[in-house]
Amino acid sequence: MIAKIIRGSEIAAQIQEELKERVKKLKERGVTPGLGVVLVGQDPASVSYVTAKAKAAAEIGIYEETINLPADVPEEEVLKTVDRLNRDPKFHGVLVQLPLLKHVSTEKVINYISPEKDVDAFHPVNVGKLLRGEPCPLPCTPHGVQELLIRSGYSPEGKHVVICGRSNIVGKPLAAILMQKKKGANATVTICHTGTKDLPSITRQADILVAAMGSPKAITADMVREGTVVIDVGVNRVEDPTAARGFRLVGDSDFETIKEKAAAITPVPGGVGPMTVIMLMMNTVEAAERVAG
Ligand code: GUN
Repeated sequence: MIAKIIRGSEIAAQIQEELKERVKKLKERGVTPGLGVVLVGQDPASVSYVTAKAKAAAEIGIYEETINLPADVPEEEVLKTVDRLNRDPKFHGVLVQLPLLKHVSTEKVINYISPEKDVDAFHPVNVGKLLRGEPCPLPCTPHGVQELLIRSGYSPEGKHVVICGRSNIVGKPLAAILMQKKKGANATVTICHTGTKDLPSITRQADILVAAMGSPKAITADMVREGTVVIDVGVNRVEDPTAARGFRLVGDSDFETIKEKAAAITPVPGGVGPMTVIMLMMNTVEAAERVAG
């Protein structure tokens, strides 16, 4: 079997058009959705993510402001910045780009973001609501994975989804989303992690296999059953002297060999990445719609 390539960039472009319409309607009612982004330091990967978010916002008509604080900024100053954005009605969404430097507590900063403006959906209040199945913003990458599956014709309903990776940003919330008794979810979910014994015996049981362990090409073809749908959430920079930037991006799965076997697979880049950004835009538009009433 030769896999269908699920192009997240194309699905994200389709969602972008839908969001443009919603922003137009909000603007007719006098509301411009606003997104405040806090970036501490100049980590190259973080800068590139923040730049992608600003570009996507501009294309959709969302007002976006990035506040770049110096790397040595005291924690207190980060909290003050979040507080200012929380209070400013211009911003419907507030996010702090992660990872933060060691001297700033990620937990403290996330807890400081107003749950109503928490477009990353990392605040404990929103994490709790998600687990309980209550209405709440959904975290962008896992929500992007769900949308990608639904819109490419591989609804997770009734399927066995095996997730490799138990991070708070991807693995755990993705399991919480897909296990809900809801349309576009209702899956049987297994989470694998570093404590899992005989990982291949479990990944081979997947109808949908999600690679989200942050380890380049860790999922190999022998771990994938014929006809599985493979979603690769990994973004790993590997050195490549032939590349202009000196590195290239690879996923957590071995795309070239798995594509001979899987029913479908997402590429890296151009798969889940663009979905994360567009779901952030969706959360910002939804936060503005809630305020507009
Ligand atoms: N760093 C890696 N992924 C994310 C994300 O989804 N949101 C934020 N704020 N930082 C990240």
